[in-house]
Amino acid sequence: MTEFDARKFAVIADIHGNSDALIAVLSDIDAQGIASIVNLGDHLSGPLAARETIEILMARDMICIRGNHDRWLVETDPEEMGPSDRIAYDELEDRHLEWLRALPPTRLLADDVFLCHGTPASDTTYWFERVAPDGGVLIRPEADIAAEAAGIAASLLLCGHSHLPRRVDLADGRTVLNPGSVGCPGYVDDEPYPHAMQTGTPAACYAIVERRPEGWMTSFRHVPYDTARMAGLARERNRPNWARSVATGWVK
Ligand SMILES: [Fe+2]
Repeated sequence: MTEFDARKFAVIADIHGNSDALIAVLSDIDAQGIASIVNLGDHLSGPLAARETIEILMARDMICIRGNHDRWLVETDPEEMGPSDRIAYDELEDRHLEWLRALPPTRLLADDVFLCHGTPASDTTYWFERVAPDGGVLIRPEADIAAEAAGIAASLLLCGHSHLPRRVDLADGRTVLNPGSVGCPGYVDDEPYPHAMQTGTPAACYAIVERRPEGWMTSFRHVPYDTARMAGLARERNRPNWARSVATGWVK
């Protein structure tokens, strides 16, 4: 593996088996001459192209951690998996599962960049958002967002999981960043209450971060790509919400 460049790198997350979106993002990263990539997990689960996706990831030089779905793929009895995990699981071989099993839940890079999937303590908690009992998705209070970062000595904290691109700067100067989702721009979930996350764009989303003397400069990139094949795979697997999400960024 080439040495991680902590001054400027790309941040990707929540690919969810969308190999065409991943290819589009990687070629955009390459076109900008960015050599270092961190990947915050939920690599495969969904009715798309899990096997193609993991083959790309295993062949590519990048730093990966695991998301909640990656954990469930290696820890859950296949008979008890949710439908998105099970479809992905059925495409995987033992060597793929071994790769997933070896991923850490969090990482600290260059003593200054912290990676997690949800929050430092939980891969199933949204760092920036909370879900109301009526299904509304609200921004958490500043103090709650800051509390999740307690004790983490890093100036940049990276998270995924909600699929919503957002940056929050804490009062102490640290930056928390969610790069959005490469492959799944909208979804519905039942926990903690039924809700929908929707970006409203099918574009593959990620972020570029660059250390500046004044702080972290961050840019969100929305990369358009041909969604037809992935939406078709979702339809073939009888997952109309996924097909609509991949094609439009909306689920309802
Ligand atoms: Fe997740």
